[in-house]
Amino acid sequence: MPQPERVAALGGPAVALTAATTIVAGRAERQVATHLARTLRRATGFPMPLAAAATPAAPTVELTLAAPAGLGREGYTLTARNQRVRLAATTAEGLFRATQTLLQLLPPDVETTGRPGPWTVPQVEITDRPRFGYRGLMLDVGRRFVPAASVKRLIDQAARYKINVFHWHLTEDQGWRLPSRAFPALNRIGASTQAGWREGGPWFYTEAEYRDVVAYAAERFITVVPEIDGPGHSAAAMASVPGLNCDGVAREPYHGFDVRVSVFCLDEARLPAVRDFVDKTFAEAAALSPGPWLHIGGDEVPSVTREQYAAYVGLAGRAAVANGKRVIGWHQVGDGPLPPGSAVQYWGLTHEDRPAIGTAEETESVRLLRRAVRQGAQVIVSPADRAYLDMKYTADTPYGLRWAGLVPVERAYDWDPVRVLEPVVAEGQVLGVEAPLWTDRAYPGSHRLPDSTAVYPDPEVYLDHMVFPRLPAIAELGWSPERARDWPGFRARLAAHGPRWAARGIGFHRSPEIDWAD
Ligand code: ACM
Repeated sequence: MPQPERVAALGGPAVALTAATTIVAGRAERQVATHLARTLRRATGFPMPLAAAATPAAPTVELTLAAPAGLGREGYTLTARNQRVRLAATTAEGLFRATQTLLQLLPPDVETTGRPGPWTVPQVEITDRPRFGYRGLMLDVGRRFVPAASVKRLIDQAARYKINVFHWHLTEDQGWRLPSRAFPALNRIGASTQAGWREGGPWFYTEAEYRDVVAYAAERFITVVPEIDGPGHSAAAMASVPGLNCDGVAREPYHGFDVRVSVFCLDEARLPAVRDFVDKTFAEAAALSPGPWLHIGGDEVPSVTREQYAAYVGLAGRAAVANGKRVIGWHQVGDGPLPPGSAVQYWGLTHEDRPAIGTAEETESVRLLRRAVRQGAQVIVSPADRAYLDMKYTADTPYGLRWAGLVPVERAYDWDPVRVLEPVVAEGQVLGVEAPLWTDRAYPGSHRLPDSTAVYPDPEVYLDHMVFPRLPAIAELGWSPERARDWPGFRARLAAHGPRWAARGIGFHRSPEIDWAD
């Protein structure tokens, strides 16, 4: 999972990893080989030494960058035959993706330590490459702070499904989680609240923690995309920096559950202060994030004029570019000027937008997409009624919301990122897909606002339940060719995958749509 482009089962006796298995890798393959060796040693207890060349007759797992051209940056081949496993790709990134496939070919016990095995891989020949270059997972750490260790745990799981972008939604009304030297109050005041938590912080990442997460993601070939949302979703900033408010007075930190409760003052007189804030905080986010993208938000902005909104998008886009970044924004930014190389993230409702395309009743979301695409922007597809991981599976799901409808596993899986928006967005304009996890309602009984007796579970409990099994569904939409996908097949593969989550201690949602293996 995700389903590879081409799989040929070869039959015959399985290839076994044994105490004599060597991992063969040259210098260029070393980083990925070391990562794989660590995982295999932990599971099997075998020494799995790294060697530059194969010993004749010894079983090997070989990693090589000598691969046929045409596999692309992330493509790979995996061959298991005659006591040898061979992973080939043209980049280390492709090799890493191949290692994730290899882990899934091994028994579920590969996810635990000290089991006896046997550690077998069926004889197989796989050729694989992604459909889209951007396959993202977003985590909102603004409403509910997620400690760096839990963020890393989530990133590690996402890497299993060949996710290659971690979109870190770092700023919200309820909290500013990005470390800031330019505005220390962002961490002293802006990080002092969460949704439902008036005190107990501060909750933000130190620079060391942030860099550690970036490095951890990079080791898994996952790019971190920081988001600084504006001009709305900005109450934490406005509580910390007085000049962002029209009256020049800092507001109270916000720990409630509403949206559209804030917007930077975009009056002519205040614009220089807003620009200064954006310039400095974007520079800080860019300096900590080596990836090519910066997400500027742009969603759910109350009470500004079109001109004011466009002015904000313009200054935010220029600040991103000045710091060497390409812009991503929620699809509302289509109403502003987008720098070359931008992408917009579509978060509309496919059940409303899709049927109206090409009719006189085209929706606002589609109008905005048209404006974005006309400016040359690419599109990241994240429909709320399909890809939002905070939507409840069923009416009984303890956590989350249902404003976009219920999203059971089949609904998350059974759609296509190109078909839902064509011909407004052509296949070549789809950059990829993303599954966002918002954390507004990360407590049981979430159909109501919490009262003073509410118990907020550890964020990992909420993440596990909402992310699995829906993230692999979205990951497969991003990776697998359309013709390789079908719901009955996915359903069967998911059923067999459950024991891997159980082995890893992932509290996944045992959806009754799936006949889970035990
Ligand atoms: C969003 O859900 N406000 C992007």
